[in-house]
Amino acid sequence: MTEAEGVRRRDFINIAAVSAAGVAGVGIVVPLVSQMSASADVLAASSTEIDISAIKPGQAIKAEFRKQPVFVRNLTPKEIEEANAVDVSSLRDPQTLEERTKEGKTNWLITMGVCTHLGCVPLGAGEGEAKGEFGGYFCPCHGSAYDTAARIRKGPAPKNLEVPEYEFASDTVVKIG
Ligand code: FES
Repeated sequence: MTEAEGVRRRDFINIAAVSAAGVAGVGIVVPLVSQMSASADVLAASSTEIDISAIKPGQAIKAEFRKQPVFVRNLTPKEIEEANAVDVSSLRDPQTLEERTKEGKTNWLITMGVCTHLGCVPLGAGEGEAKGEFGGYFCPCHGSAYDTAARIRKGPAPKNLEVPEYEFASDTVVKIG
């Protein structure tokens, strides 16, 4: 190989290395972008509308939001009273019922149906299910008990049942997400 040929060959190797890096760079950027747009699509498509007109005071339903259970509960005046009678400063995750519901609609308690301990689905939203000693929800996995505002009162769960983003599309339809 002459010296000139040697230089050309090195140049070629350098150029090849640079374009490989360039391609790898593109390879990294593309999945990120497509992941971002996919999740935006998923988010838009996965808001859930729930007709609440048939849920009587004292009843609850289980719905699904982004593949997870959601509890929609129509609290009785007594359950509202019980929630409001609690000294909030004594709670593990201090929140009032008012903070966990929409103004003027404190009877509608809408939460994720996912225990904040290890993610089991608590009982209490289905007909005849145990509501636990605080009258809200009871997680049978390790005994977490939630009150009528779905606040954690006993057991290993660290947090209240999560209140998802939602709004009232009308008096009888709730849009979650
Ligand atoms: S997952 Fe609910 S108490 Fe453990």
